[in-house]
Amino acid sequence: MLHGKRILLIVAGGIAAFKSLELIRRLRERGANVRCVLTDAGAKFVTPLSLQALTEDKVYSDMFSLTDESEMGHIQLSRDADLLVVAPATANILARMAAGLADDLASTVLLATDKRVLVAPAMNVRMWTHAAMVANVETLKKRGITFIGPNDGAMACNEHGPGRMSEPEEIAAAIEQMIGGERTSASAEKPLAGKRALVTSGPTREALDPVRYISNHSSGKQGHAIAAALAQLGAEVTLVSGPVSVADPRGVRVVKIDSADQMLAACLDAGRVDVAICAAAVADWKAAKPAASKIKKKAGVAPPSLELTANPDILATLSKPGARRPSLVVGFAAETENLVANAIDKRTRKGCDWIVANDVSAATGTFGGERNTVHLITAQGVQEWPTLSKDEVAMRLAGAVALQLGRPRSIKAAE
Ligand code: CTP
Repeated sequence: MLHGKRILLIVAGGIAAFKSLELIRRLRERGANVRCVLTDAGAKFVTPLSLQALTEDKVYSDMFSLTDESEMGHIQLSRDADLLVVAPATANILARMAAGLADDLASTVLLATDKRVLVAPAMNVRMWTHAAMVANVETLKKRGITFIGPNDGAMACNEHGPGRMSEPEEIAAAIEQMIGGERTSASAEKPLAGKRALVTSGPTREALDPVRYISNHSSGKQGHAIAAALAQLGAEVTLVSGPVSVADPRGVRVVKIDSADQMLAACLDAGRVDVAICAAAVADWKAAKPAASKIKKKAGVAPPSLELTANPDILATLSKPGARRPSLVVGFAAETENLVANAIDKRTRKGCDWIVANDVSAATGTFGGERNTVHLITAQGVQEWPTLSKDEVAMRLAGAVALQLGRPRSIKAAE
């Protein structure tokens, strides 16, 4: 795993640059924080926007950007990383590295760094076997640069031989070997140690009288799995749950409530937290005047009408700006149509930072089911996640929370 590891990925200009997008995914799935430097030639193959969306971070390319240099200079970029990775490493960037040139941001960062560097060459077979390249590779290896690949195979230029960039999975595994491996280290395994989390889960029950209530089909599976995943990553978790039949997650403080009012009170009682995740299906309305005793039916009398009033919005309340606001507030959007558009709108309306949007139309079997297909909506854009088990969604979300809470303050403020 690469939990909490920071990788600076330099994307140079080669046809293999598209594989760097997949590499970012693989690294983030392993819990790494990836930041990109894109060369001018690299930008001809992949856009800064795709890199930004996948890394959820700013993409750096300009050597003389006034804002970048004041916020994050080339020295800082390398200082903030555990490893520099050049993928694809073109003939040009390898030659510039060997010569010690510093004529753009990528080469300057590579010259200025004291961190380990992994390069994944990608070029035409004749370029790779050229005497100049052979000498450059030898020089770089002598200086301690680690190489992965290139692989043998068919190339975009219709030739065959060594020159294909290694596959993203191979590169990710090499990175794991270089800087992962501290599986037993407390900070790598428990990136949320010292952080406090609040999770709401399950339905609420709104009493009509002492025996009847309004509620919904929420099973609490997703919310409970999130509480468990956050605890697994070391957070101190309070789970405020409506009535559910799933078991209490281990290592989590569980507060059981019935109504939305009680859920809000329990959330406020939980004190200051670093992250709040509202996964509960809170009833939007409650009876305006719940009866103190059981409402009796009377022969010949029409059924009573139900007067409803709005419940407090717990997510919106927790999202309100102020000293008590958690650094990260995450809501859920259960939608049956226009999933992404409605969820983007909900993020703004509720004032939260992220929305996990899921399609709960009957055909998906999300309610009460084991699997979930979600989109994560952040200020940076929309991430489409594959269909995963609710435990996997929870672990992936907890990993994303750990990354976000682990970011330096200056980066969070710039977002
Ligand atoms: N939520 C809340 N308190 C409420 C209502 C909702 O905390 N009184 C939270 C839920 O936990 C969830 C998000 O708000 O994180 C869902 O918002 P909601 O407005 O209820 O949207 P949907 O349930 O998705 O449905 P709709 O917008 O169609 O009403």
